[in-house]
Amino acid sequence: MKPIDKNEQDAEKLAAARAAVAFIKDRDFVGLGTGSTATFAIREIGEMVKGGLKIKAVASSIRTAELAQSYGIEIVDLGQVSSLDISIDGADEFTEDLNLIKGGGGALFREKIIASLSKNSIIITDTTKKVKQLGAFTVPIEVIPLAYQYVFDQIESLGGKARLRKAGNKNFITDNGNYIIDADFGLIAAPDQLAIALNQIDGLLAHGLFIGLTQKVIMSQGSHIIIFD
Ligand code: 5RP
Repeated sequence: MKPIDKNEQDAEKLAAARAAVAFIKDRDFVGLGTGSTATFAIREIGEMVKGGLKIKAVASSIRTAELAQSYGIEIVDLGQVSSLDISIDGADEFTEDLNLIKGGGGALFREKIIASLSKNSIIITDTTKKVKQLGAFTVPIEVIPLAYQYVFDQIESLGGKARLRKAGNKNFITDNGNYIIDADFGLIAAPDQLAIALNQIDGLLAHGLFIGLTQKVIMSQGSHIIIFD
């Protein structure tokens, strides 16, 4: 994929966001993702709400909740929800078979709950996120602090090179009060198998491999919208 500059990338993010919000219907219960691409969608949804669209939403992070509320979108507590009509989120990488790496922004746990609850989980991206094989982007893994060393060692024993995420000179702390380990497994031949192995590690709250959780990826390439479903 040829490199694109930030303006082109932002134009692609906006175009993908506009294509995705067209799937939202009046009275829908909507899951809102986190990150720069999801932010474009949240702004568009805010405009639709101003124009009279009636929806309720759940947020995948504190910053998304604040942003959505600032646009007049009603936010409901995620813990009280058993189903969502639609969700819109970004991704760090995706393959054409709709598997993803997510969690670059550290919101992967709530994002995964939202994707699991959603009947129509839509991922929006620019062209830079499409890959043939997942794994150039390290796999974010949320870990409960007291299990940190155990989880770190388990990741390494699965062949991953683990690194604790930092924010400046402090540890990065998620909205859930946990750490993130970024794990480099190289290019991942069998993401579904790796996901299963990671799921078995006690103290590992969530990992950024989203396997079988996505109904559609909407990618904008220049002025073209390409839908993978
Ligand atoms: C946050 C995420 C984001 O969706 C992912 O990092 C992509 O972010 P951006 O749209 O800013 O490139 O998973 O946890």
